Amino acid sequence: MKGLATVALGLSLIVLVNYSCFCYGDLQVGYYKYRCPDNNTDVEKIVRQSISSQNLLDPTLIPALIRLQFHDCFVRGCDASILLDGSTAEKTAPPNLTVRGYEAIDNAKSAVEEQCPGVVSCADIIIMAAREATVLGGGQFFNVTTGRRDGLISLAIEATAFLPSAEIPVDASIAVFAGLGLSVTDMVALIGAHTVGVAHCSSFKDRLYNYNGTGKADPTMDHLLLTSLKITCPQNSTQDNIANLDQNSLSFNTVDNSYFKEIQDNKGILGIDQEIDLDTRTNATVASFASDNKFFNAQFAAAMVNMGAVNVLLDPLGEIRQSCRSINPPPLPPPPSK
Ligand code: HEM
Repeated sequence: MKGLATVALGLSLIVLVNYSCFCYGDLQVGYYKYRCPDNNTDVEKIVRQSISSQNLLDPTLIPALIRLQFHDCFVRGCDASILLDGSTAEKTAPPNLTVRGYEAIDNAKSAVEEQCPGVVSCADIIIMAAREATVLGGGQFFNVTTGRRDGLISLAIEATAFLPSAEIPVDASIAVFAGLGLSVTDMVALIGAHTVGVAHCSSFKDRLYNYNGTGKADPTMDHLLLTSLKITCPQNSTQDNIANLDQNSLSFNTVDNSYFKEIQDNKGILGIDQEIDLDTRTNATVASFASDNKFFNAQFAAAMVNMGAVNVLLDPLGEIRQSCRSINPPPLPPPPSK
């Protein structure tokens, strides 16, 4: 009888242990709990404090850090390959030349290393930083999963090949996202990140002067917007100015659903922005987000978690980088024996 009771207790403990693990695939919520020399170290809090203090000095970190997660996860998975320096590394590829936030990640990594050396991956710091950016931008808080390891390879040609360009048609974009396990709803929610940040004229100039090679403007663009963008981006100017992706001037740095309302009013900046409202495969989702800010924010949070799980490296693959900008040096050979 006593033996049976022990087995039953053991089984229920196993069940309890299993249910107390908020796992997502093989990543976990709270992976770093109890992994630092001081068990009380709260890694996510260190990243939060680092990012929020840096954001006070530069609030454009909000869009920069959200985009950084996208550009990391879409090339070799979320493995911090975008952070590696080098003349042929991902960050030198054309789609990455306007990516920002590298110093912010370096600073967060240094703050983490001070209290928890050699334990926290740069890949996870990107994910935590993007969550902080979302919250600082007024978006919904969400639990991030952690436990990623850092990759050893970063190739510009891969970033050029795998990052979608501004003119990507909706069906091709759906295929790219689906190839990474992301649904159409995830895709529309994630493109909703364009509720913050800017685009350079070079990313949308064709829509103003030579839409689809017609020598004319995109007929779907709102006329007032077209006029003002032509002033921002004169046809023959070599200067690459910027325009807000969310044309609501009160919320261009706020993570909310106003971007979806703007694209419904034909005020999308990039080709893909306008297309997701025009395409029958995506416009119902656009409408559902435009009409419900809470719903958009919940779906955005869920989609960021889903994107954060794309092709991650788990122990024993990859490494925990000492510096986010370079792979670790090989271990020193043992001293010659006398
Ligand atoms: C088909 C998908 C997408 C395309 C084609 C696309 C394209 C672009 C382009 C061309 C820019 C402007 C770059 C410039 O001219 O400086 C941009 C900016 C931005 N993108 Fe996307 N994007 C896509 C999806 C996403 C996703 C999934 C996210 C994040 C979840 C994201 C976040 C951002 C942010 C925040 C900015 C503003 C960056 C800043 O202000 O520094 N984008 N995107």
